[in-house]
Amino acid sequence: MSKAQVSLRNKDILGLETMSAAEMDLILDTAKEMKNIIDRDIKKAPTLRGKSIVNLFFENSTRTRTSFELAGKYLGADVVNISTSSSSVAKGESLRDTLLTVEAMGVDIVVMRHEAEGSAQFAASVVKPVIINAGDGAHEHPTQGLLDMFTIKQYKGKIAGLKVAIIGDILHSRVARSNIWGLLAMGAEVHIAGPQTLLPRGIEKTGIHVHNRVEEALDQADVVNVLRIQRERQQKGLFPSAREYARIFGVNAKRLALAKEDVLLMHPGPMNRGLEIAPDIAYGEQSAIQEQVKNGLAIRMALLFLVLMGGTHIEAAN
Ligand code: CP
Repeated sequence: MSKAQVSLRNKDILGLETMSAAEMDLILDTAKEMKNIIDRDIKKAPTLRGKSIVNLFFENSTRTRTSFELAGKYLGADVVNISTSSSSVAKGESLRDTLLTVEAMGVDIVVMRHEAEGSAQFAASVVKPVIINAGDGAHEHPTQGLLDMFTIKQYKGKIAGLKVAIIGDILHSRVARSNIWGLLAMGAEVHIAGPQTLLPRGIEKTGIHVHNRVEEALDQADVVNVLRIQRERQQKGLFPSAREYARIFGVNAKRLALAKEDVLLMHPGPMNRGLEIAPDIAYGEQSAIQEQVKNGLAIRMALLFLVLMGGTHIEAAN
C-alpha cells in the first residue's frame, strides 16, 4: 500500500503488532510537522477545535498523560482528565460503565491507560469513540514505541538496518513489546538482554536476538534503549538485589562504550537512576531521553490529528 492510501481516520490505536509500516511512516511524518508547532512561541493550531478528548488513566503517569493533554490543547481540542482516585471508579464503578458514561457525553477520543492486558481492545469493543491505548498492563504502549522510533529516525536518519539493544525488564514491559513490533516492521535488528527471569519465554520467535549478557546486546549497537525495573509488577525474587542488578545488568559508561561511538541512549522514563541506568550517562552526551519526552508530544499530536481528521498534512495554523 502506498503512503497516500493510508488513513488512520476513526481507527483505534491499540498496538504496534497490528499496525503496518506504512501507517507508522504516516504517523512519523505527521509528527515531524507537529514538532514545528511545539517549537513556536504560540503553540496553538485550530485544527481540532470543537473536538473533545478524555484521558482515562487507571495507572499513574507523568509523560503520557501530560503530553496527551498538551497535544489536544495545542491543536485546539477540549481535553478532560479522569484518574481512578478522583472518579467514580473509586466508588466501584466498572470499566465498562465508566466507558459508557464517557461515551454518553459525546467525546471523540478516549486515551486510556489500564493495568489489564487487553483492556484497550475491550474498550474499543464497548464504545464508539476512538480508543488510543496509553498502556495496557504489560501488553503494549504504542505511542511510546512510536516516539522511540521517531527519536531514532531524528538522530540516525533511518531505522532499517540499525542494531537496537533493549536492556532490562522485558517481561513486564509494554514499552519493550511495542518497540519490538515497531522496530521489526521498520527493518531494525533488535537485540534484548536482561536476567533470564525477566525475559519472556519464546520471545525469540518474533525474530529478535535474545542475550543473557548485556555486553553481547550492547556490542556495536547503534541504539540502546534501557528499560525501567518495574517493581510494582514484579513478584519478589526475580533478581537477587538492586545492587546485584546494577552490577550485572545496569547500563553504565563502561558498558555503553561497547556500543558504537555515536550510540544513541534512550529510556522511556521514569528512570531508576543507579539501578538500570547510571546517573552520569542518563543525561550525558549520548542521551536522547529529554528529546524523547518532547517527541512524545509531537507523536501524540500527530495521532490525535490523524484519527480525527485523516490525511497526511496539517492545515496551516493561524
Ligand atoms: N514512558 C511513560 O509511559 O511514562 P509515564 O508513565 O510517565 O507516562
